[in-house]
Amino acid sequence: MTTNSLPICFLIILCVHLKPLASMEDENQFIYNGFHGAYNLHLDGVAKIFPNGLLQLTNMTRQQIGRAFYKLPIRFNKPSTTLSAQTLSFSTNFVFAIVPEIKNISVHGIAFAISRSMDFTKEVGSQYFGLLNASNNGFDSNHLLAIELDTLMNPEFNDINENHVGIDVNSLNSYVSAPAMYYSSNEGINKSLGLKSGNPIHVWIDYDEVEDLLNVTLAPMGTMKPEKPLLSAAHINLSTILLDYMYVGFSGATGAVGGSYYILGWSFNRSGQAQSLQLSDLPSLPHQRKPRQKPGLEIILSLIVVSIVMIISILGVLYFVKRKKYEEVHDDWEEEYGPHRFSYKDLYKATKGFVEEELLGAGGFGKVYRGVLPSSKEQVAVKKVSHDSKQGMREFVAEIASMGRLRHRNLVKLLGYSRRRGELLLVYDFMPNGSLDKYLFCSEKQSLSWTQRYRIIRGVASGLLYLHEESEQVVLHRDVKASNVLLDADMNGRLGDFGLARLYDHGTNPETTHVVGTVGYLAPELTRIGKATTSTDVFAFGAFMLEVACGRRPIEPQRLPKDIVLVDWVLENWNKGTILETVDPKLGGDYLKEEMELVLKLGLLCSHSNVPTRPSMRQVVQYLDGDALFPEILHEAISVGMLYMGNETSTEFGLSFLSSIQKSSIGSKASSQSILNSG
Ligand SMILES: Nc1ncnc2c1ncn2[C@@H]1O[C@H](COP(=O)(O)OP(=O)(O)O)[C@@H](O)[C@H]1O
Ligand SMILES: *[C@@H]1O[C@H](CO)[C@@H](O)[C@H](O)[C@H]1NC(C)=O
Ligand SMILES: *[C@@H]1O[C@H](CO)[C@@H](O)[C@H](O)[C@H]1NC(C)=O
Ligand SMILES: *[C@@H]1O[C@H](CO)[C@@H](O)[C@H](O)[C@H]1NC(C)=O
Ligand SMILES: *[C@@H]1O[C@H](CO)[C@@H](O)[C@H](O)[C@H]1NC(C)=O
Ligand SMILES: *[C@@H]1O[C@H](CO)[C@@H](O)[C@H](O)[C@H]1NC(C)=O
Ligand SMILES: *[C@@H]1O[C@H](CO)[C@@H](O)[C@H](O)[C@H]1NC(C)=O
Ligand SMILES: *[C@@H]1O[C@H](CO)[C@@H](O)[C@H](O)[C@H]1NC(C)=O
Repeated sequence: MTTNSLPICFLIILCVHLKPLASMEDENQFIYNGFHGAYNLHLDGVAKIFPNGLLQLTNMTRQQIGRAFYKLPIRFNKPSTTLSAQTLSFSTNFVFAIVPEIKNISVHGIAFAISRSMDFTKEVGSQYFGLLNASNNGFDSNHLLAIELDTLMNPEFNDINENHVGIDVNSLNSYVSAPAMYYSSNEGINKSLGLKSGNPIHVWIDYDEVEDLLNVTLAPMGTMKPEKPLLSAAHINLSTILLDYMYVGFSGATGAVGGSYYILGWSFNRSGQAQSLQLSDLPSLPHQRKPRQKPGLEIILSLIVVSIVMIISILGVLYFVKRKKYEEVHDDWEEEYGPHRFSYKDLYKATKGFVEEELLGAGGFGKVYRGVLPSSKEQVAVKKVSHDSKQGMREFVAEIASMGRLRHRNLVKLLGYSRRRGELLLVYDFMPNGSLDKYLFCSEKQSLSWTQRYRIIRGVASGLLYLHEESEQVVLHRDVKASNVLLDADMNGRLGDFGLARLYDHGTNPETTHVVGTVGYLAPELTRIGKATTSTDVFAFGAFMLEVACGRRPIEPQRLPKDIVLVDWVLENWNKGTILETVDPKLGGDYLKEEMELVLKLGLLCSHSNVPTRPSMRQVVQYLDGDALFPEILHEAISVGMLYMGNETSTEFGLSFLSSIQKSSIGSKASSQSILNSG
């Protein structure tokens, strides 16, 4: 077995070893699947081979010629010595591509040539393909057979169009030509083929001497060789053209327009069927370069697009941030309150973004900022009330709207509102002289004269009367106190914050009802019934009157226990007949004794713990205006009432109240805190 197989093995090894050599060195046939290391190739003109094996005949430069010929001459004559049926039959196939400088603009083209010589120095380019010149075109002495792949219509050579294939015999006036196309046997039709499309095209050229038939067949690379050739030229009689030794190769020329001509692979056989190309091994074409101006244009365009997209997204982000910044809460039910609604943006601008410099003060409900409305240049005070619950908001806004209709010279006008998430903004008329408590208790502010004080008390009384009796519906203030009395430019007292306490008092269940108001101004029955009435407002107004007259706060924990509560202290002095000793020493005795006594007595009467004893606001205004005399019987009522109450005096109340305020009061937090600490 070993002895038998050995020679066969040797033969196989030999064949495998010799095969590449044979294909390259056999003068009758060769194949280039790509042209790497193609040393048998003669390059001429601008032709060159790329590292990937791609053969480029011409580049984009205009008026160039490029050639590539097989270096060794091919023997075409019939050797007389041999008896074998050596014919002139040959075949070749190759893949080419034409990439014009400008897409789809004609260049001249490529020709496959069988020529008597490789010396083309006298020949010209352009339409002559670098194969002939004007003086030798058409002469039999040329001994030239060319297959032109022509992309330009030259009338001088009777070209049929700008995309044709022709068989040229000694002349560029084609022997036969046809528009470039291929027969698709699948579809049974001819399909046109763009020679200058830049796509690789496969060409087969077959000559059969016996039939004297030269076939030229084209197809896009990768397509099977079509059954029917594009050109089938009979009676060429190649024997008169071909000499004993001929050279085979390609020539291409550019003219007024540049173009790159490529040969990707080439197979030739002088005697018989040429080998098939390994299409997968062929080099790929360079990435098609776009015409000069376009890349710049595209870069500019894409830059523009990118910047537009960026600008849009930046604007979008800004818009979103801005929207977020000025975001409001709007409910359908608010439609009817439209006129009372301010945009958050306007308020934000009015208060310069709610800066500290514009802060007027902070009360129990929230911070108050000064502002100038952008549209009307009107000065306003904007109160920011934090309010998370949606519950009650509807009722409250309805109330604000109705309060917006309240007009009285002793009320701070509520101009409107705005809402954000968790925030309610109330817009009021701006009061240039601030709140009354500063004049009463702050040493840096000048003290008010008795005349001013009396005017303020009367003003506030008529404001409260308006709320209680003269407006469309009864409005309870619920938080009458010196710090809620603001002074306008003429030092008129104006009640502010009316109805605001309502916002925190929407509970319907009495057990959860919060007592709203400020310690020292709360009527004793409020803690028991938990229900505000006009009488509880009157109680607070009484405390306010005493506050203004005595220049001290309703509750001052640092005093002796019996004097802590202002009302008790004044009452005690009233009972001792020393009531004028409670008068504010800052007045320096500069006051009308009758007015002072009236204010103090009225204060005690209003703050009477027995509800029916308290006068109405109408009566209070009448007494203050002197329209009604303070009845003597009420002198008794004050002291009798207090005695009658026995152990439930306001002092008791004041102290017992301390234990309950912790959970109830949203009023003056600071003062309740200090009471708790001392208590
Ligand atoms: N309409 C206004 N004009 C000018 N200043 C105001 C106005 N409203 C409130 N203020 C100022 O803001 C401070 C706080 O107000 P506010 O919240 O009403 O206090 P409180 O809750 O203690 O009654 C006040 O002391 C006052 O100085
Ligand atoms: C084309 O080739 C010639 C010669 O090699 C060279 O001078 C020219 O710059 C090339 N043109 C291009 C566009 O590459
Ligand atoms: C190329 O040009 C020819 C005529 O010159 C035209 O018929 C063809 O549609 C063009 N092809 C493209 C892709 O523009
Ligand atoms: C044309 O080419 C031939 C050689 O092929 C040469 O003898 C002749 O001078 C050339 N004519 C011109 C005009 O260059
Ligand atoms: C296809 O083209 C060839 C050569 O031009 C022609 O002879 C043939 O009739 C054409 N066939 C069809 C189906 O058009
Ligand atoms: C040429 O094409 C014809 C069909 O048109 C075919 O009969 C003939 O065999 C072909 N010859 C060669 C050499 O391919
Ligand atoms: C009250 O405000 C007015 C106007 O701003 C001002 O002229 C006046 O001096 C102020 N009065 C006091 C007591 O501050
Ligand atoms: C007053 O105090 C007495 C005991 O000192 C008590 O029995 C009575 O209920 C108290 N009155 C009121 C109204 O609280």
